[in-house]
Amino acid sequence: MTSNGLILGIETSCDDTAVGLVDERGQVIASAVASQVLIHNRYGGVYPEVASRAHIDKIIPTVRMVLEDSGINPRELEAIGVTRGPGLIGSLMVGLDTASGLAAGWGVPIVGVNHLRGHLRSADLEEQRVEFPAMILLVSGGHTLLARMNGPSDIKLIGNTLDDSVGEAYDKVSRMLGLGYPGGPVVDRMAGAGVPHIPFPRPVINHGLDFSFSGLKSAVMRYLEAEKGWKVEDVAASFVAACMDVLIAKCRRALAAYPSSSLVIVGGVAASPPLRAAAAALCEEAGVRLCLPPLKWSTDNGAMIAMAAWDYLATDNHTPVAPQTSLTIESF
Ligand code: KG4
Ligand code: ZN
Repeated sequence: MTSNGLILGIETSCDDTAVGLVDERGQVIASAVASQVLIHNRYGGVYPEVASRAHIDKIIPTVRMVLEDSGINPRELEAIGVTRGPGLIGSLMVGLDTASGLAAGWGVPIVGVNHLRGHLRSADLEEQRVEFPAMILLVSGGHTLLARMNGPSDIKLIGNTLDDSVGEAYDKVSRMLGLGYPGGPVVDRMAGAGVPHIPFPRPVINHGLDFSFSGLKSAVMRYLEAEKGWKVEDVAASFVAACMDVLIAKCRRALAAYPSSSLVIVGGVAASPPLRAAAAALCEEAGVRLCLPPLKWSTDNGAMIAMAAWDYLATDNHTPVAPQTSLTIESF
């Protein structure tokens, strides 16, 4: 079989139907994302059943868009990489079933990819940035964790959230403030116009590498109920300041415990301007290289899944093409 040296990545684990086409060096040949933000905004969060149905409507048009933009013959693909988990079961099944059908029809191999490994590899899209050994901070809607990475396939979890993820806290605080879904971009924007004068807690900031954000979220809720005349901008600024203090303190501690060449920050919350700025200051102080994916590859996309699929091919890792709702960063 001839090959055009490209992998098609398909991502449907949550609320974005995303497809990307990536070569072995991480160059993105084409990418498309059908966002469900407008659909879920009215519920203030992702409604799983509605998400699966929207994926069914959007997945083939999104694949077609990427193929037309690139002009490639899909029968010559190196492989299809598709998210197998973690994520919403119905949403994952739409991506996996569609990818299986396309792979069979085109006669190309299919690889089931761990979504978290996709985020991890997003930092090397378009340009090789990561230097090993690397410290990873993965901050998304579903996860907040620290991991040690000695190579694309050598990853060890060293810190995890005990309850909510930081993205989830952003989304819940956004809902409390009446700012809609997703919370990240709008809460950051509001925070930029506020004064962080409210002393919200910084949970487990003084010890260990694990995180906890549910107490912070509850403290914001109690404040909104107890106080009168608060300003949305000040509440947002105080909440964001608490999140940043915790994330940066944990990264500083992790870098001290595990000397690293680079700090890699990935996942939707890596798009946060205050996090990008605070991480730059930390890396300057610690003398390590900061590796951030371009903004468009921070939130869920198909290119990062294709990028990770190259690692699976390189290590001959034949993961099952079946949904798996609870993978860790260490799983293939
Ligand atoms: O990685 P992602 O797209 O999906 C998951 O795998 O969960 O992350 C989505 C999360 C949401 O919680 C969203 O509010 C957050 O990323 N997010 C942000 C920003 N953009 C997205 N959080 C803070 N600042 C942003 N600019
Ligand atoms: Zn994600």
